[in-house]
Amino acid sequence: MKNTVATFQKMKESHEKISMLTCYDYSTARLMENAGINGILVGDSLGNVMQGYEDTLPVTMEECIIYGRSVARATKDTMVVMDMPFMSYQVSKEQALMNAGRLMKEARGNAVKLEGGAAVCPQIKAITDAGIPVMAHLGMTPQSVNAFGGNKVQGKSGEAAKRMLEDAYRIQDAGAFAVVLECVPSPLAALITRKLTIPTIGIGAGSETDGQILVYQDMLGMFSDYVPKFVKKFANLGQEMTDAFLQYDREVKDTAFPDEKHEFHKMTDPEVLEEL
Ligand code: KIV
Ligand code: NA
Repeated sequence: MKNTVATFQKMKESHEKISMLTCYDYSTARLMENAGINGILVGDSLGNVMQGYEDTLPVTMEECIIYGRSVARATKDTMVVMDMPFMSYQVSKEQALMNAGRLMKEARGNAVKLEGGAAVCPQIKAITDAGIPVMAHLGMTPQSVNAFGGNKVQGKSGEAAKRMLEDAYRIQDAGAFAVVLECVPSPLAALITRKLTIPTIGIGAGSETDGQILVYQDMLGMFSDYVPKFVKKFANLGQEMTDAFLQYDREVKDTAFPDEKHEFHKMTDPEVLEEL
């Protein structure tokens, strides 16, 4: 059955955990769909893991649409949330609505996600009013890395914790259907989860959020430029891929590959080769 905003809401109410992963391509999205992952985020983390930038700021709408489309084509039951890249929604609610619309029309997502609290509530309301579900994102919001002065846990002080809870109430009132809490002390994330009626999706926010999300290359052990503390490696595909590449290189060079069963032998007129 299709995972929708209603499914996510029902899961929160019945204390059933929501599984989400990021994804940016067709083949991987197919595997996630088959595994029954509830939601995929086409995150602007694609700037890091797909494109090798140090942060998410250079990612464009066009790139989000291209990657997003590939994921949307692969999914049926999995909800697909499209991240809104830096400067695609901050300027005005009109700009935000236009770009959210493009992510729905051109990339064929089921929802969009943007970062921020009270400051982006007009955007959340405008997009939601147009019938597009919005996932919010609080805590360590990577598009603000320059303001934070690095990838730092947010909401540690009493003042900051109070502000985050206030932001959480505001985005809920503005119409967000869920919120990502990134790099937030677990007790604060647990409190926000209890106080909100909408589901919280945690990443580095402890076990009491309504759901979890990880960047797929991180959880598969394929990306080691920077591995945050909250990442658990569920596989070591980086090593497996390296082993496969090494073996391929060796077999090409010593002609062990290709072998009989990977060749095309039959020709209709093989004798013609003698004359050539
Ligand atoms: O872009 C991304 O991958 C994200 C998740 C970490 C929530 O925003
Ligand atoms: Na993101």
